[in-house]
Amino acid sequence: MDHDEQGSLPFCSTEKTPRIIAVGGGKGGVGKTFFVVNLAVALARLGHEVIVVDADLDGANLHTVLGVGNPSTSLADFIAYREKDLAKLVLDTAIPRLHLIAATHANLASAQPGHFQRVRFLKDLRKLRADVILLDLGAGMQPALMDYFLAADDGVIVMTPEPTSIENAYGFLRAAFYRCIRSAVSSETIRTLVTDAMDQRNDLGIRSPYDLLREIVAKEPQEAEKIEEAQRAFRPRLVVNHVLSAEEVRLGFAVRSACQKYFGIDAEYLGYVNEDTAVRKAVTAGRPFVEAFPRSDAAVCIGRMARKIAAVLVEHAALAPSLPKVQVAENYESAD
Ligand SMILES: Nc1ncnc2c1ncn2[C@@H]1O[C@H](COP(=O)(O)OP(=O)(O)OP(=O)(O)O)[C@@H](O)[C@H]1O
Ligand SMILES: [Mg+2]
Repeated sequence: MDHDEQGSLPFCSTEKTPRIIAVGGGKGGVGKTFFVVNLAVALARLGHEVIVVDADLDGANLHTVLGVGNPSTSLADFIAYREKDLAKLVLDTAIPRLHLIAATHANLASAQPGHFQRVRFLKDLRKLRADVILLDLGAGMQPALMDYFLAADDGVIVMTPEPTSIENAYGFLRAAFYRCIRSAVSSETIRTLVTDAMDQRNDLGIRSPYDLLREIVAKEPQEAEKIEEAQRAFRPRLVVNHVLSAEEVRLGFAVRSACQKYFGIDAEYLGYVNEDTAVRKAVTAGRPFVEAFPRSDAAVCIGRMARKIAAVLVEHAALAPSLPKVQVAENYESAD
């Protein structure tokens, strides 16, 4: 990687805070990597400096979808302390303004980073020079993924219209929401209450986020304001992938309503992507789908979402100096 005139790395800067967008959703194979790569390409095409990060240390494959054969460096090097400087892991891609941190060569014996590594990663991520950083979280609900999802400026949940995917997306939201509430409150009693409520068969009879909120307000009403604030800030964006009909498009609105009803949160339905048999052709050819088939319905859908995100980026750039530099979760190692 080239160094600039001051001797610093081109991807390391403190002058500009990138917007971090984390993409998860619980279920495997719903299209998170497909979405991240193609959204990234679309945003780079719109003129933004983009870094995509494969945070899926268990199943790294983002580089392949992007057409990067054998990445020379990986996030695993940072997690294993082989490379201390995250900026040195940023690789160029064939697409102008689009860069990658891959996740190959992970130590499968301990792929998931511990709390301090997560904090270090999130801190250093904010120092990278880019307009936007897209994090592909991979499947599951491991503590590291939840921390990244909550620490990001935006969290996107990708789902498919299948009931199993909706169920997993709801489970992911529930886990993220409880974790968010737990870090928002200051009372140790309430934190313990939230941890207990995370067990769906808890003895307290708390079966839904609403039950939990009612219990918290009854026990310590002074915490209610912090929770309301956390609810307002918790604004996941929803994407429905593999859509085959208008009815399936509408599913995103139904999930948004459920978020309001069960969590009291205002999720945004970012958009949908059609199922398209050409996706496989693009992956096999090692080309991002929106590059290979720009006029397909699915590519148009992704382009629409990219423009929505681009509008947020413009707003973010205007507000950036006043944004907090680092947002990290508290240490819940014991409750992980
Ligand atoms: N809209 C689509 N139309 C057709 N195929 C798609 C679409 N979106 C994704 N795919 C295909 O579905 C498969 C799974 O997609 P992808 O790997 O992006 O899922 P994922 O959520 O990242 O999976 P994992 O949880 O394992 O990381 C891939 O073969 C991908 O090419
Ligand atoms: Mg993936």
